[in-house]
Amino acid sequence: MEPIVSKDSIVYFNDECYTALNSYLEKANHSSIFILVDSNTYECCYAHFISKIEKEYAIEVIEIEPGEINKNIDTCSSIWNVLAEYGADRKSLLINLGGGVVTDLGGFIACTYKRGINYINIPTSLLAMVDASVGGKTGVDLGNLKNMVGVISESEMVLVDPEFLGTLPVNQMCSGFAEMLKHGLIQDRAYWEKVSDLSKLTTDDLDQLIYDSVIIKNKIVTEDPTEQNIRKYLNFGHTLGHAIESFYLTHPEKPTLLHGEAIAIGMIMEGFLSSKLLSVSDEDLKQISTVILTTFPKVNIDPKDHKEIMELLIHDKKNEKGNIYFVLLNTIGDATYNCTVSDDLIIKSFEYYDSLS
Ligand code: GLY
Repeated sequence: MEPIVSKDSIVYFNDECYTALNSYLEKANHSSIFILVDSNTYECCYAHFISKIEKEYAIEVIEIEPGEINKNIDTCSSIWNVLAEYGADRKSLLINLGGGVVTDLGGFIACTYKRGINYINIPTSLLAMVDASVGGKTGVDLGNLKNMVGVISESEMVLVDPEFLGTLPVNQMCSGFAEMLKHGLIQDRAYWEKVSDLSKLTTDDLDQLIYDSVIIKNKIVTEDPTEQNIRKYLNFGHTLGHAIESFYLTHPEKPTLLHGEAIAIGMIMEGFLSSKLLSVSDEDLKQISTVILTTFPKVNIDPKDHKEIMELLIHDKKNEKGNIYFVLLNTIGDATYNCTVSDDLIIKSFEYYDSLS
């Protein structure tokens, strides 16, 4: 598979990952190398990664606790301190080996420590492979508000090695799958059709679908790296999805939703809004809902919680001058941004989701 090139980064696949990494490490001559893992990726992925490194380097491992709950500034402070204690300087390298939490947080640490050191993303979850590790978005949550603090700055390279997926729980695979479905919905109907028929997919197909998903994402972020216009498409399903995710994060007595699980709900609701405000047909809305509910569990959102979820929309990063903006679909494969939606219609989208079985 040919590497996929963006403005400042490059995504390598399969064995080529390690050829590229070994040659980069040899040439770059870093003063020190750090690898950020969480306890899961240390256990399941580190040995495979290190077996691929050809030369002896003194690599310091920094391990954090897994989970979105740790994607915060306190975790950053402790890692900045570790880097300082080990004398990391501006020629140091940080390698992020993990899912979206590790690549988002590690990227942010690298972009801010001594005003920026080089970093490499090695995504180990499907979500990080097709989305989080590509395009240079880094950051942390602020309380329950997702990705409120961060910067956009691309990694030196992204290494996509689907071997890592062998250790991933099914719900985590599905979480990444949500972003692949999104890529089809916003940009490419043919890709959507392919990816939505899970029953026909083999493991070999998965490699190609990951590759095609990265192509879609990379094309968008290369054209609009700082989200002035078309990068907003990537937020389809995320306006309501993030609010729902944040709501459930702050209510531990309710079910915990993975990112992709919340985005899956958001895509159904925003698909519904698209059918009411734009030209998504009833048939396409039915297809979107059916495909998503075949893969993701239906969540019973209590109508009493709608108000609190809607209040969270005010923090969405696409908002401007107090307006809440949505990305909606003209049709499957064609998105549009800066759409406004009335509160009444948002309530109707909750009711639509609730009516599905
Ligand atoms: N995950 C959305 C973006 O990278 O813009």
